[in-house]
Amino acid sequence: MTTLLEKVTRLNEIGIALSAERNVPVLLEKILRNAKLLTNADGATIYTVLPDQKVRFEIIITGSLGYYHGGSSGEPITFSAIDLYLSDGVQNNRHMVAYAVNNKTSVKIDDAYVAEEFDFSGTREFDKATGYRTIAVLTIPIMNHEHEVIAAMQLINPIDSITQAVTTFTLEDLQLSESLASQAGVALANQQLMENQLALSNSLIRLFAEAIDEKSPAEGNHAKRVPIVSEMLAEAVNNTNDGPLKKIHFSDDQLYELMVAAFLHDCGKLITPSYIVEKKNKLETIIDCIELINTRIEVMKRDAKIALLEKKITPQVYEKEIQDLENNQKLIDRCNTCEEPITPEIEKLIDSLVFLTPDEKEAVLIPRGNLTKKEHVIIQHHVEITQRMLGQLVLPKNLEEVVEIASNHHEWVGGGGYPRGLIKEQLSLRARILAISDAFEALSAPDRPYKKRLPLPKIYEIMEKMVKEGHLDPDLFEVFQKQNVGQEYVKHYCAPD
Ligand SMILES: [Fe+2]
Ligand SMILES: [Fe+2]
Repeated sequence: MTTLLEKVTRLNEIGIALSAERNVPVLLEKILRNAKLLTNADGATIYTVLPDQKVRFEIIITGSLGYYHGGSSGEPITFSAIDLYLSDGVQNNRHMVAYAVNNKTSVKIDDAYVAEEFDFSGTREFDKATGYRTIAVLTIPIMNHEHEVIAAMQLINPIDSITQAVTTFTLEDLQLSESLASQAGVALANQQLMENQLALSNSLIRLFAEAIDEKSPAEGNHAKRVPIVSEMLAEAVNNTNDGPLKKIHFSDDQLYELMVAAFLHDCGKLITPSYIVEKKNKLETIIDCIELINTRIEVMKRDAKIALLEKKITPQVYEKEIQDLENNQKLIDRCNTCEEPITPEIEKLIDSLVFLTPDEKEAVLIPRGNLTKKEHVIIQHHVEITQRMLGQLVLPKNLEEVVEIASNHHEWVGGGGYPRGLIKEQLSLRARILAISDAFEALSAPDRPYKKRLPLPKIYEIMEKMVKEGHLDPDLFEVFQKQNVGQEYVKHYCAPD
């Protein structure tokens, strides 16, 4: 690199490259390597300023020694961070880097062994250990748009391109390095800001998932687990080399969008009445009806006893009445806790019991799960609430499809799902991935109070039936099966029992 024009052109290119970089460690490395190149320095170090008033070494390069630590080198840096302040609270201005950071100023030294204003004992130790000789040193602070120092770079021993001897840094070197530092500051601050924003959004999304899971303790960690299954299935689609999905490849952005949708897909459940989402047994409503029924049975048993004492019934009739009541009580109890499969005989028997109200009979006779038809309608409503809630978010372009993906997780590919009864062609592939993941998580969950955990072959059998009946996407289910998504999930995320 010779002429100034070439250097300035290079500086512009660096600026563009830096503003496009999305990864802070890579960005630091680019800044450092370009500063080294612009000044033809043999050595270069980049530091970041930590919140606890220290400056940490990030990358150290000494070209002539082949020394490269930190950054993407894989070699750790063993030097401890530099204190900006001494223990008595005074600025550590004898250290050149601390001085540059504390005073927001560049420092240029022509010979480190002669300069008296700074303590170069650390540098001398490094030199002693490596046989190096540090001569010229240039330290530049890197500031953000608020004029706060967020990083610093130090360049060592510029090499004369003709004589190949170590020379001193020129005023031009200083100005070019400062220009680079100001571009680097903007790029670094932007990137840190973006990373902070992303971390905040991610933690808010997880906070929501946490709230959803807390609201529905009966569903265990559903909101936090569905994203895991969704990601595994989407990766499986990416790895598929045959079948109708072989050409599909989700980008990182698309995978992230799916993750966000998966974390938030049941956010509408925050609005569902607690007595429904927390419901364990069939007869639980706002009050637990099993208590009322048990009280009624006790009253009937007492009435029978009175009738016996008043000699209105014989001891044999009394015994039979008590026996019948107790048998019915036990049966209702088993139905209530979903332990008793509802057969036509049981239906007939429950129906004949005069001490149950029609609502109670309906509840006791629920054939699957623990929810009545009315409660099903209320709980199904959560998807519409999800859609409404997510629809109010101001979503950036890369997350625009979150609403569609999240609010279609109960739609069936063959139509007939809820809330809109859409069909496959109207559903995005990621919405269909979420639907399968949602079903699989619900079936594989170990912690549902109204059902025992199912073994994997049984889960696959149920899912196959759901595919045949047009609920789940057959192509996706094929990938799910072929790539053992279920096995891998159970292996890694379900405790053995
Ligand atoms: Fe749902
Ligand atoms: Fe769900």
